[in-house]
Amino acid sequence: MNQLIGGLKDKVVLVTGGTSGIGLASAAVAAANGAIVVCADLQAAQKLPEGCEFRALDVTDWKATEALVDDLVARHGRIDGLLTSAGVSRVGDVQEMTLQDWDQVLQVNLTGSMYSAKAVAPHMRRRRQGSIVALASINGMLGNSGNLAYCTSKGAVIQMVRSLAADLSRSGVRVNAISPGLIHTPMTAMLDQSPALGAFVKQHLLGRVGLAQEVAHVAAFLLSDLSSFVTGINLPVDGGFSAAKVIEMA
Ligand SMILES: NC(=O)c1ccc[n+]([C@@H]2O[C@H](COP(=O)([O-])OP(=O)(O)OC[C@H]3O[C@@H](n4cnc5c(N)ncnc54)[C@H](O)[C@@H]3O)[C@@H](O)[C@H]2O)c1
Repeated sequence: MNQLIGGLKDKVVLVTGGTSGIGLASAAVAAANGAIVVCADLQAAQKLPEGCEFRALDVTDWKATEALVDDLVARHGRIDGLLTSAGVSRVGDVQEMTLQDWDQVLQVNLTGSMYSAKAVAPHMRRRRQGSIVALASINGMLGNSGNLAYCTSKGAVIQMVRSLAADLSRSGVRVNAISPGLIHTPMTAMLDQSPALGAFVKQHLLGRVGLAQEVAHVAAFLLSDLSSFVTGINLPVDGGFSAAKVIEMA
């Protein structure tokens, strides 16, 4: 259920990676709460929620990102919210990981998020309001073996958000990160068969995998005026993963 929250009605919200997983769920929650939502992604969704429109975008293409944002502002007169959910993951430790994997993960997860934020920033600054929310990860808060490029990119996103908040918040523009734990989406579907899944899930204090909609509700809060005094934070939505180490006593 898309719970109703205040503060999103008639806001123009751009969601990158908006046709799958957390981005799609966030688009649905924002639209259900009255936002005008643009889902920008490499690939279209079979069906988008009511109130959402699709725009093709590769977030690693600066010119295309800038053109899309300029077009949205020309059509709607403003852009109130940005959620950067476009992301990729490549498994591999320092030896297994190819240089192409490293480049791609950093390009999409880090540089792509920065491009989107840089494109919306002047428009938000001009109106002295706006909210940028970036998807980071618990893997950006802790190291993790076999996931070098992804962990590095997400750690950098958290630091980017703090620095962007420092750049923009005096102009009334807020910038925050969300760090999900393990969320059931197409990106994590391959873990379903992994022998490591059980141990990973147990590290979440709530003892289960999260749902995309549970992240979407937090994204809606951060995008909305309900969080008007919140900037520069990294908010874990991780079922307690980052709060404590789970040690099972025999
Ligand atoms: N699922 C999880 O457990 C989890 C945990 C922590 C963080 N995250 C982060 O949340 C975000 C969303 O992940 P998800 O699980 O919904 O994944 P997902 O694979 O379901 O969705 C990611 C979307 O990004 C799009 N995308 C990839 N490269 C792109 C590009 N160059 N330009 C535009 N769009 C592009 C894909 O087409 C896809 O629609 C990602 O940044 C991911 O790293 C996910």
